Amino acid sequence: MQYSQKHLLGIKGLSKEDILAVLNAADTFKVYTQRDIKKVPTLRGRTIINMFFEPSTRTRTSFEIAGKRMSADVINIAGSSSSVVKGETLVDTVKNLEAMNCDILIIRHGEAGAAELAARHLSNPVINAGDGYHEHPTQALLDLMTIREHKQELEGQKVTIVGDIAHSRVARSNIYAMKTLGMDVSVVGPPTMIPADMEKMGVKVFHNLEKGIKDADVIMMLRIQMERQNKTFFPTLREYSNLFGLNLQKLKKAKKDVLILHPGPVNRGIEISTDVIDGPHSVILNQVTNGVAIRMALMYLLLGLSDETVN
Ligand code: CP
Repeated sequence: MQYSQKHLLGIKGLSKEDILAVLNAADTFKVYTQRDIKKVPTLRGRTIINMFFEPSTRTRTSFEIAGKRMSADVINIAGSSSSVVKGETLVDTVKNLEAMNCDILIIRHGEAGAAELAARHLSNPVINAGDGYHEHPTQALLDLMTIREHKQELEGQKVTIVGDIAHSRVARSNIYAMKTLGMDVSVVGPPTMIPADMEKMGVKVFHNLEKGIKDADVIMMLRIQMERQNKTFFPTLREYSNLFGLNLQKLKKAKKDVLILHPGPVNRGIEISTDVIDGPHSVILNQVTNGVAIRMALMYLLLGLSDETVN
């Protein structure tokens, strides 16, 4: 199965075959990441630029590890230490980086559409590592990989996403991917945090946590993103936590084999309690592990490499 796109700018518009091509390749790359010697020569001689204009722990590090495990030269650039602070535009910045012959540009930016803007001006592949409220496509791919590992198949799985759906690029990318793959998606949150178009997209809406999680095979909790809000969409954090935070008591209403996902970083005790984060249903650290394999697979597919480069 081949990935048919030149870039990964979002999940919207990807076919089922494109999504499965990345997941299947990631399963293979995960085997390499579990060996004592984790490095493969796949990207020897290639240069990857990891450009982050927003803070990140998981995404930035896992792209760097993925590139290094495939023998690429990986350059990290923080927006705050780039010449953007001297007034250089994003387009001029990425064109200058490509002039140094980088093979893949990875970009995280606070503005929706930043990765797409970069891709319009570059001839090499661009990967969106999260752009504003818009999309976080590699997060959705690693979430799907984690669900498939635990539930064996994706089609028909019932997933409930809880929290600030309206301001979540993770939710948006996951909803596009899950609907494309025939999954059953529900969202839970206060009305101020649920976009108006959910039902049109075939997504069920709940404003009560217990009702929304009752039949779920998978519950995905989202972080309250205080850094993206100049006004709050609920009276107090305590009230939000009481109504929409997941704890062991509320988890009793869910299925016995339910999986708990969270993209991180977690706000312990706000959207999710410590005993749920560290409990038996949680696959939060599995998601992080799978992030490396997904990003290895993606770089391999975007460069159109052959199996001979892997061993
Ligand atoms: N899930 C995620 O994007 O985490 P980081 O912000 O740490 O990259």
